[in-house]
Amino acid sequence: MTKFSPTLPGGGGEVFPEHEPNLKWWDEVTPVHVASRMYDVPAFLEGKTALDRLELEWLGDVRGKSVLHLQCHFGKSTIEIARQGAAKVVGVDFSPVAIKEARKLAELSGVADRVEFIESDVLKLNEVHVEKHDIVFTSWGVITWLSDLNRWGEVISKLLKPDGRFVIVEIHPVFMMYELEEGNIARKFGYFHCEEGVELPPAPDYADKSYVTVNATHEWQWSLADVFRALMNHNLRITKFEEYPLCCFDPFGIMVPSGEHLYMLPPGEPEIPMSFAVEALRQ
Ligand SMILES: C[S@@+](CC[C@H](N)C(=O)[O-])C[C@H]1O[C@@H](n2cnc3c(N)ncnc32)[C@H](O)[C@@H]1O
Repeated sequence: MTKFSPTLPGGGGEVFPEHEPNLKWWDEVTPVHVASRMYDVPAFLEGKTALDRLELEWLGDVRGKSVLHLQCHFGKSTIEIARQGAAKVVGVDFSPVAIKEARKLAELSGVADRVEFIESDVLKLNEVHVEKHDIVFTSWGVITWLSDLNRWGEVISKLLKPDGRFVIVEIHPVFMMYELEEGNIARKFGYFHCEEGVELPPAPDYADKSYVTVNATHEWQWSLADVFRALMNHNLRITKFEEYPLCCFDPFGIMVPSGEHLYMLPPGEPEIPMSFAVEALRQ
């Protein structure tokens, strides 16, 4: 059912061919995530917020606003934005498994009348959704899945109202260069974008390490300059930018909690940028 009229029929299904391995991977891991301690759905249903302090600070006051949430996974943060008072929130993800779970969670959370979920490749979203929003929001583990960041900027620009606000809180590309190797944090990948991307073999899932995935992923590194360029090329004026020694998860198994949903390196470890946030206004 189309709740908010400017969504065109025929959404869902088609993804960029380069994204197909990732779609298989996300369809595979989503049920694991829904059941995981990391995503903790029972606590969320009891009212625990899905958003951390960086996301809340950068999103700002959403009361009465129309918000488009890109790469929403199974909808926790989308629903949280509705719980924070948004007039309506549209969550988008290319995984049909995630979208089905998201719709169920919205019903259980009692906000289904203000939340809509669209199954679409984010890079094709403007082909199926033409409504313009006050805020476009995306966070934590999103751009590395995308093969074309310039097109991403174009989609964001097309779906924002004039003076509308884009907000991203994301894992820092410097942090993406490191992996744990024999107990040490080792520099494994380059900083700059390379068109072919990298194939990452099946591995323990990030939310539940006891589950080893069957599928591989294909990911792309994007530098901060790539992010800024993708936005500036499409009439999005960057108004705020910050970097933080904080991340939404602990890939190394040595990080320490820093408030709800965030982690930092233990005292004594030299700090590296682990996340960044950008705000850009549609001209
Ligand atoms: C790490 S999760 C993002 C989590 C998010 N911050 C949240 O609210 O829970 C990444 C999401 O991106 C989605 N995704 C990956 N590539 C995509 C694409 N090309 N188009 C749409 N969604 C995509 C995945 O299905 C997954 O749900």
